[in-house]
Amino acid sequence: MNTTETREPVVIIQNLKKSFGDNHVLNDFNLNVYKGENVVVLGRSGTGKSVLIKCLVRLLDADEGEMKVFGMSITDLKHKELDDIRAKIGFLFQSSALYDSMTVRENLEFPLRRHKHKISKQEVDALIKTALENVALAGTEAMMPAELSGGMKKRIGIARMLILNPEVMLYDEPTTGLDPITGREINHLMLEVQRKFNTSSIIISHDMNCVRRTANRVVVLINGKCYAEGTYDELKNSNDKNIKQFFD
Ligand SMILES: Nc1ncnc2c1ncn2[C@@H]1O[C@H](COP(=O)(O)OP(=O)(O)OP(=O)(O)O)[C@@H](O)[C@H]1O
Ligand SMILES: [Mg+2]
Repeated sequence: MNTTETREPVVIIQNLKKSFGDNHVLNDFNLNVYKGENVVVLGRSGTGKSVLIKCLVRLLDADEGEMKVFGMSITDLKHKELDDIRAKIGFLFQSSALYDSMTVRENLEFPLRRHKHKISKQEVDALIKTALENVALAGTEAMMPAELSGGMKKRIGIARMLILNPEVMLYDEPTTGLDPITGREINHLMLEVQRKFNTSSIIISHDMNCVRRTANRVVVLINGKCYAEGTYDELKNSNDKNIKQFFD
């Protein structure tokens, strides 16, 4: 028996539809993510990868479909419940999205202040220190985002995700715009996070090195649908020209 199919998925996306006017971006998109796995969503630019994960955390409202995280229907949640569930979902934005006018420390403190109201300064200090150690950037608390390299910004973005101990991680193009070596370091960091915290991740990417190194499973997004899925090697060996184009 395939154990993957008997387990309850951590994330369930069913028949997700999202359009902007006549632009039908997602059209009956389906995806399950199981505990501890890294699923890469592969798709060309503009196919709706960012829209997909924004719908999942309700930064965008889906038009139709069912989305469940930890068994709870995301579409039905009221403000407080949505806030609670968002605290369990780390989101690395495509742009890293650090607050430019805040230090690294203040950037990391932000989610703690928002989601953990009764927390002492000592606890905050300890959590920030650990989060920075987890991304190999200990001692950078006082730095400003403008002083950080692209790779460091991604790491701080990941530290900011980790600080609330999320069970689900959403990485939007974590390596795009980085040089290959820095990209490799970020891939390594994502694998380390998966191993250490047993997180379930959706990684959005069209960087094939990132896909190859981080994916336990790859889903290909074409025309708003999950066009194909499999391991990196399975898809790499496909004869379908729509899939082959990613590997050429
Ligand atoms: N808030 C919005 N309002 C209107 N259209 C939007 C909005 N957000 C995204 N879109 C449109 O939805 C489509 C998918 O956008 P999305 O950002 O998800 O692409 P993507 O697959 O992440 O691309 P990339 O790889 O370049 O990041 C695009 O046509 C985009 O113009
Ligand atoms: Mg995008």
